[in-house]
Amino acid sequence: MYVAIDKLTTGCSVEVHGKIVPSEGKQNVELSGTSLRIVGECAGDTYPLAKKRHSLEYLRTIAHLRPRTNTISAVARVRSALAGAIHEFFQNSGFIYVQTPLITASDCEGAGEMFRVTTLNLDNVTSLPLLKDEKGKPTNSVDFKQDFFGKAAYLTVSGQLGGETHACALGDIYTFGPTFRAENSQTTRHLAEFNMVEPEMAFADLQSAMSNAENMLKFVVGRVLERCDEDLTFFNNFYDKSLKERLNKVVSTPFVRLRYRDAVKYLQEEISKDPSKWQFPDVHFGTDLATEHERWLAETKFQSCVFVYNYPRTIKAFYMRDNDEDGGETVNAMDLLVPGVGELVGGSQREERLDVLINKMQDFDLDPKDYWWYLDLRRYGSVPHSGYGLGFERLVCYVTSIENIREAIAFPRYPGSAEF
Ligand code: 4AD
Ligand code: MG
Repeated sequence: MYVAIDKLTTGCSVEVHGKIVPSEGKQNVELSGTSLRIVGECAGDTYPLAKKRHSLEYLRTIAHLRPRTNTISAVARVRSALAGAIHEFFQNSGFIYVQTPLITASDCEGAGEMFRVTTLNLDNVTSLPLLKDEKGKPTNSVDFKQDFFGKAAYLTVSGQLGGETHACALGDIYTFGPTFRAENSQTTRHLAEFNMVEPEMAFADLQSAMSNAENMLKFVVGRVLERCDEDLTFFNNFYDKSLKERLNKVVSTPFVRLRYRDAVKYLQEEISKDPSKWQFPDVHFGTDLATEHERWLAETKFQSCVFVYNYPRTIKAFYMRDNDEDGGETVNAMDLLVPGVGELVGGSQREERLDVLINKMQDFDLDPKDYWWYLDLRRYGSVPHSGYGLGFERLVCYVTSIENIREAIAFPRYPGSAEF
């Protein structure tokens, strides 16, 4: 016993026998040991985790060891409870869970932020098959017909298009899985690989999609309040003193629903008081709201979760349904903005009218031929349908009050970082 205690350092793994007894310290119980065996030694002089508090930035450099810390292990537990509650909500509501592919040939968001998937030998560029011009001379463009899938392939940015095929067959469905975006942004809210929850509902309009998102969030936050009290108390004490109060308010208060036009009006009024306080003071109809605008609406103006809806069609994706009753200028799109995070959910009613959708694709420089199967949903028994995507890691940030999304996932992927 005494030999073992000599070698007992922070980080080693041990087997201890003894009795669980009431504790005189801060915790409820403690183990009063009668025998101890060191199972795995841990060299105290090289172990990167000391008993002191480390910065979250430092912990990111040892992502393989950081789940041993109290903050990151608490995030992992809350994250797991959130994932369970999301499945519970949708399963209890009769939604069918669909796994959509990670490898795809279509760019759902049309933003061109996709990672390429290829088996062509990039180590030897002279071996790449090239397209030929009319005279049979090789051009500078790679011939992806000779790649693994016989066409250019990418990692998906969203499971939505595949989700829609199943909503148009089964009714209400949801997906929950990894998505990838090659946007080169070093922010606290963007990852190159993140998880998205994407419900898709047949015979549903934009207002129903907002109601579903609100009910889902209330449910999952409620579950985590019930099941993760110890961890939430930890975050409340060490990260955000108003966390539990804020989460309880999410469960009990209706979310605000605000037209984009009105959001712009409120922002203009506020910005005109002192434009120098804003990084992007120019806000007008057609402006893609920046995080500072979104956070002001949720944190200051309404101090609540806020749906902004009916966005200008020019700043939103091609598949969103045109709003006939709004002068043709807007689409049935919504974003849910939440305090501390900004945009947590993005969704819309989908354009279910074949002719309107084809025209729109042309406006957006998309070739309808590439989306033939997506258009078939509008050719054969089209139904009004709506859905949304919730950024799962942003939800983890929101519920734990952890500020940087790189702490919300075990092994964050962002520009310049894929170590672990
Ligand atoms: O608003 P987005 O781009 O919507 C879609 O992809 C739709 N196809 C969803 C749908 O209607 N089925 O993304 C949805 C959400 C955002 O609101 C945000 O929370 C999250 O996904 N998100 C990201 N989270 C982390 N890192 C990124 N780079 C993210 N990009 C989007
Ligand atoms: Mg969005």
